[in-house]
Amino acid sequence: MTSTQIRNSFLAFFESKKHHIVPSAPMVIKNDPTLMFTNAGMNQFKDIFLANSEAKFPRVTDAQKCLRVSGKHNDLEEVGRDTYHHTMFEMLGNWSFGDYFKKEAIAWAWEYLTKVLKIEKDDLYITVFGGDTADGLDVDSEAYEFWKALVPEDKIIYGSKKDNFWEMGDTGPCGPCSEIHIDMRDQKAKEKIAGRDLVNEDHPEVIEIWNLVFIEFNRLANGDLVPLPAKHVDTGMGFERLVRVLQHKKSNYDTDVFMPLIIEICRLTNYSYGSEKDKDIAVRVIADHLRAVAFAIADGQLPSNNKAGYVIRRILRRAVRYAYTYLNTDEPLVHSLVAVLVKQMGDFYTNLNDQSELIQKVIREEEASFLRTLHSGIQKYEAYLDAHNSQEKIIKGEFAFELYDTFGFPIDLTALMASENGWSIDMQGFEKHLEAQKSRSRQAAAKNLDDWVIVHGQPTDESVFCGYESLIEKNVRILRYRKVVSAKNVHYQLVFDRTPCYAESGGQVGDRATIYSGEQSIAIEDTLKENNLIVHIVPELPKDPAKEITILVDERKRLLTTNNHSATHLMHAALKQVLGDHVEQKGSLVNEEYMRFDFSHFSKMSQEEIRQVEQIVNARIRENIVLDEKRDVAMDEAIAMGATALFGEKYGDHVRVITFNPEFSVELCGGTHVQASGQIGSFRILSEGAIAAGIRRIEACTADKAEAFADEHIDLVHDIKAVFKNQKDILKAVKQMVQQNVQLQKEVDKLNREKALGAKDQLINSAEILNGIKFIGRKIEGDAQAAKDLAFAIKAVVDDFVLVLAYEANEKAGLTIMVSERIAEEKGLNAGKLIREAAREIKGGGGGQAHFASAGGKDASGIEAAILKVKSLIQE
Ligand code: SER
Repeated sequence: MTSTQIRNSFLAFFESKKHHIVPSAPMVIKNDPTLMFTNAGMNQFKDIFLANSEAKFPRVTDAQKCLRVSGKHNDLEEVGRDTYHHTMFEMLGNWSFGDYFKKEAIAWAWEYLTKVLKIEKDDLYITVFGGDTADGLDVDSEAYEFWKALVPEDKIIYGSKKDNFWEMGDTGPCGPCSEIHIDMRDQKAKEKIAGRDLVNEDHPEVIEIWNLVFIEFNRLANGDLVPLPAKHVDTGMGFERLVRVLQHKKSNYDTDVFMPLIIEICRLTNYSYGSEKDKDIAVRVIADHLRAVAFAIADGQLPSNNKAGYVIRRILRRAVRYAYTYLNTDEPLVHSLVAVLVKQMGDFYTNLNDQSELIQKVIREEEASFLRTLHSGIQKYEAYLDAHNSQEKIIKGEFAFELYDTFGFPIDLTALMASENGWSIDMQGFEKHLEAQKSRSRQAAAKNLDDWVIVHGQPTDESVFCGYESLIEKNVRILRYRKVVSAKNVHYQLVFDRTPCYAESGGQVGDRATIYSGEQSIAIEDTLKENNLIVHIVPELPKDPAKEITILVDERKRLLTTNNHSATHLMHAALKQVLGDHVEQKGSLVNEEYMRFDFSHFSKMSQEEIRQVEQIVNARIRENIVLDEKRDVAMDEAIAMGATALFGEKYGDHVRVITFNPEFSVELCGGTHVQASGQIGSFRILSEGAIAAGIRRIEACTADKAEAFADEHIDLVHDIKAVFKNQKDILKAVKQMVQQNVQLQKEVDKLNREKALGAKDQLINSAEILNGIKFIGRKIEGDAQAAKDLAFAIKAVVDDFVLVLAYEANEKAGLTIMVSERIAEEKGLNAGKLIREAAREIKGGGGGQAHFASAGGKDASGIEAAILKVKSLIQE
């Protein structure tokens, strides 16, 4: 079976057991402070398990893109070295939401593996949870009994909490699990050691393939386990491992999931896979990491300098570095694999296909820029070795850490380079710096979340957002609150039964508001979303949290933000009109000041294009188009209406559609919008530029901000006109002045050079004889060019000299040194070396050849000292 057939067979099997097939959720997670990437198939169902939202189908099945590179589940360092861990992988899963439980989950897993796929029963081993005293949990004898009915008892092994109690993270849904392992060794090896003894022992051929989790608890922040209202099933099978089993390969990488990529990498680097251990690791790392990065970009996460973007950047850098070190590539390579990946997986994961051009461009740009850093890191490393050569050959921990932190050199790379040069690394020192950095960032990020305190209702009650209609809400009850302690402050989070506050999402910032509780008033500083919950941030709790309160939204902030949000929709539509349909939203921020909009487009917008977009938006504003807001539209219907859905956004089956003229702008959106476009008043683009390869960013503003922007520019032109005594054609006047200036500067430079040359004879006469060398050292009037001209003029008439000319321009200092040829040869004096020493005196640097060198510095007061320095070097 090909990998595609295997994926389809799994989905078809569970469909035949009445499961609904659902698409993979995006791999990049938004709105969950505990998780950056989908690390398990169950993430998208977390809220259903916790009873925060209702399941649409009692049974579902899917193939989910996962990424395990941070947090509780992190496999990054394993990748490449072994043959069965990956950063990005697919997880095949089947779920029951309060429907079937252990019996069916176990029976169906067994049926699928042994009857449908016909895997040899003898090769399979089962693990069952053996209980845990600390958590007060019993042995899972129920699961044991169900397994016993299917397999001989010597195939069933009890496991510890580490292997057989599955938890998503530090908190959240969890439960005992039963894993299915497979022994893929040959007969002889099996006779020597029983497979049973190798289960969970990191043996490359005895590996886990499927995990059946029986979710029944929620782990709270205080460590307690509380039972969930219903029992659920969450299973996850490693797709790449299953393919390996069915294709009878020794490694996941030998299957048709990875081979096309591996073949392409080898073709591009002229390497034959399987011939050298280190190079094989590099090939696997590149194949794996390319998948992770490409899928992340397709899901809307670009490499960047923080959070999820930084994780993606580091994964890509790891691949580039392996290519550079082991496969000797100093040109971007990874991006050229995108086409192969898209061909392989683009049919099932269609957004990969749709975004392939962007993915390639972004990766290429990142690679090129990291290769430059890598190159300068290696130079820095070599300079360090040069400078410390006289001491014992140990690289200090601090320097190894600098390479790691600033240049992205993992420590194993530095260690390898060091050993090639006969050096070693002070690993303890390195670890110390690494630990210090980690604890700095832990401290900065650390947030201590207490468990929720329930004030009214049930722990699972949700709040209703009523802020589309009204900015004030009376008789509101606090459902729950919790205390949050961070490095910065202590604050509280509140959840209400109803709220008029918009929670930050879809790029629109959260509302500010005020709570009135009796005499007391408390500011809501921000409103955020945590999964489906609307969470309000307050500095203190109401004195009596049980009392009903009134909430009043900050009207001005909301109004200005709303203007900007509606204008963003109009601008998005206008950009498509002016630039073409390839324009796709890649990110946005909307607040009361301005809007920021990132979109795919491959070249700089011309002034004319920018003007056209402004004109279209302003015309739409003047038309005063009435908002058409439809809530609860079925997704299919919304798409049929022409609504644009964004990749990487999670949408429910029912969505809200915002239309400003069905022919012009139809978008899926949960944000707040103006009743009619006229309210926006006016629109101006403040700036347009690139933020990554193929991604442009526009900043724009509306209403009085847009007017102020135009006013400023008009005022500026008035002021310039006044300076030019109100000439009619101001542009012509400015151009003329610039031209005149260039001309005048040329003349000034020429005069200065002539003046400097005039000083030639004087300089020659001032020569001192030092050790048989004519030494001339003087400060002159003029610049670098004048010094150069003068030096060459002196060279034409004088022999056996060393000349130092210093000059001052714009409070900066410059030096020029010339050493005549015979002196350079016979006395071994070198202008380049002399100038490096002398430049220190003027706080600068420079260099050049043996005969001629120049330098600049920021301290003109050191000029005398610089000249004396050269003199004393000659005397020495
Ligand atoms: N949640 C379990 C896992 O990730 C099974 O899907 O292993």
